[in-house]
Amino acid sequence: MEENRNRKPLRFFGLGEILPYARAYRREIAGMVLLGLGSSLCDAIYPLFNRYALNRYVGEGRLETLPSFLSLYFLVLLAQVLANFISSYFICKVELFIGRDLKNASFNHLQTLSFSYFNTHNVGYIHARIMSDTDRIATMMSWRLMDFVWNLSYILFAMLVMLRIQPRLALRLLLLLPFAAAAIGFFQRRVLRMNRRVREMNAVLTGDFNEGITGAKTIRTMVLAEKISADFRKDTREMRRRSIHATHYAALFTATVTMMSSAALALVLWRGGEMTAVRLLEIGSLSVFLSYALGIMEPIQYIIEAFSTLLDVQVNIERFSALLHIESDVKDSPAVIERYGDSFRPKRENWEPLYGEVAFRDVSFRYPDGEEEVLRHFNLKVEKGSRIAIVGETGAGKSTLVNLVCRFFEPTAGAVLIDGRDARERSQLWLHSHIGYVLQTPHLFSGSIRDNLRYGREDATDEEIWEALRLVSAADVAERMGRGLDSEVGEGGDLLSTGEKQLLSFARAILADPAILVLDEATSSVDTVTERRIQEAARRLTEGRTSFLIAHRLSTIIDADRILAVRDGHIVEAGTHRELMEKRGYYYRLYTRQYEDARTEGEFGERQAAEI
Ligand SMILES: Nc1ncnc2c1ncn2[C@@H]1O[C@H](COP(=O)(O)OP(=O)(O)OP(=O)(O)O)[C@@H](O)[C@H]1O
Ligand SMILES: [Mg+2]
Repeated sequence: MEENRNRKPLRFFGLGEILPYARAYRREIAGMVLLGLGSSLCDAIYPLFNRYALNRYVGEGRLETLPSFLSLYFLVLLAQVLANFISSYFICKVELFIGRDLKNASFNHLQTLSFSYFNTHNVGYIHARIMSDTDRIATMMSWRLMDFVWNLSYILFAMLVMLRIQPRLALRLLLLLPFAAAAIGFFQRRVLRMNRRVREMNAVLTGDFNEGITGAKTIRTMVLAEKISADFRKDTREMRRRSIHATHYAALFTATVTMMSSAALALVLWRGGEMTAVRLLEIGSLSVFLSYALGIMEPIQYIIEAFSTLLDVQVNIERFSALLHIESDVKDSPAVIERYGDSFRPKRENWEPLYGEVAFRDVSFRYPDGEEEVLRHFNLKVEKGSRIAIVGETGAGKSTLVNLVCRFFEPTAGAVLIDGRDARERSQLWLHSHIGYVLQTPHLFSGSIRDNLRYGREDATDEEIWEALRLVSAADVAERMGRGLDSEVGEGGDLLSTGEKQLLSFARAILADPAILVLDEATSSVDTVTERRIQEAARRLTEGRTSFLIAHRLSTIIDADRILAVRDGHIVEAGTHRELMEKRGYYYRLYTRQYEDARTEGEFGERQAAEI
């Protein structure tokens, strides 16, 4: 991703970035590590019980200490079960809480990013990435850390015990460990690589699947089934090949671990057996060595695994910290935050009212990733409460103008003034709290109509909600859906038509009662009856507010106080509908052309209807 550019690789696997999040749970982590040590100590102690039992009860045939032996044995067993239980609790807690904190941090940071970030980044992708990155980091900080501590301490305990019992034999076994580690590491790296390749292929297949399903109509109508199916066969074949490959390596890996254990066992049996024969080693001690020889390879495997996870997770940590380091294009200055607060702690008591006078003073603007200037030395003054329509061909810069009013972007040069003061002198939240923005594609949230309208104003009563619905003549939408304000709108408002969504978002804006209103027109997707309703609703909605109407259908803006015809980032004409029509310039041409189009479309439609 581009946010990784120009960033130095993180030191110490990027753990420094994560440590602050772990610090909050240092008690739990300490508990989990200590209990883990305890549990692994218990595990390392069991062979000593065997040794005692073999030497004492089998070797010497004396049974008088048996009851205390058994009690001790069960005590250790109980202690271990308890330690495992409590440490699992800590591990889960650490995993959950660190994961949650990381997600919170990412989410809160995303909230501070500007419009342009979401313009250029796929939200679904960001979401998936945050979820998987933070999960993996949290698992690493809990389960993998625990694996590491547990297994390393087991090896150390075992080594210590063996060195005490019979140093020479212990050293022999110790010499074997680096070879074992190298062999295990070698195969493990390969297994991981193979698994990654399988996962990649799996992603491709999932993609194929998705396309096959979502594009089913296109595939049928364009007779692509043959080709799609051939592609799919090719991909599944590749998947099979990679999976078999991966399984081979996994099998080799398991075999290596077993072989290393056997080698250790053989070594102990051979040298230890000799020592036992010449009474250098008791039979009980030999059994201790045998247990450790068998048990020591698996911990090595886990330690190596923990290391490779750390290497892998580094990527997740890098991405996570890169996300947190992205700076918003639009930022409130420290002085502004000091006075007005930020998004999470707004200081509403210091907020001035907003009246709604908007001005562009010599504004030039280029999109952060754009090549050309969209606006050049643009000037405009809009009185409080006036209704401004912006017209122009596609790409003329209409949406850009209102994006600047809303401060979704900041001018490259010049300033946007709100009530006579540079917008940057006050906080984004202050401005956004006073702006209503109804998009070309209205967005509703899943939930009831009431929930959705209350996004406009949290404490709106049902009476006020109905009033708002009536004002935009959308009351019948709620009535028709059966359960009134409780009717569910579906995900993203799926259960409603575009026109209905538009009307509801108007009602939502009315409840919010903003001083400035922006309507980026919903285009052709509505029928003429709905269009007229929307037009009427828009008129009601804009009454008494500074409004910017972007209209593709010029018939909808005839009664605007001022119409701005924009072309290539410049206002080429400005005036009322009548003035501009009399001028017979750019607007006149736009208008008459559309009127002609509408007429021919209408006639065509009628003719078609007559033919049927
Ligand atoms: N996020 C962006 N990044 C870079 N360039 C952009 C971006 N958005 C718009 N542009 C460019 O800025 C110019 C003006 O676009 P704008 O969206 O303001 O046009 P518009 O008048 O609203 O068009 P439409 O009628 O199609 O909505 C276009 O040339 C467009 O390619
Ligand atoms: Mg636009």
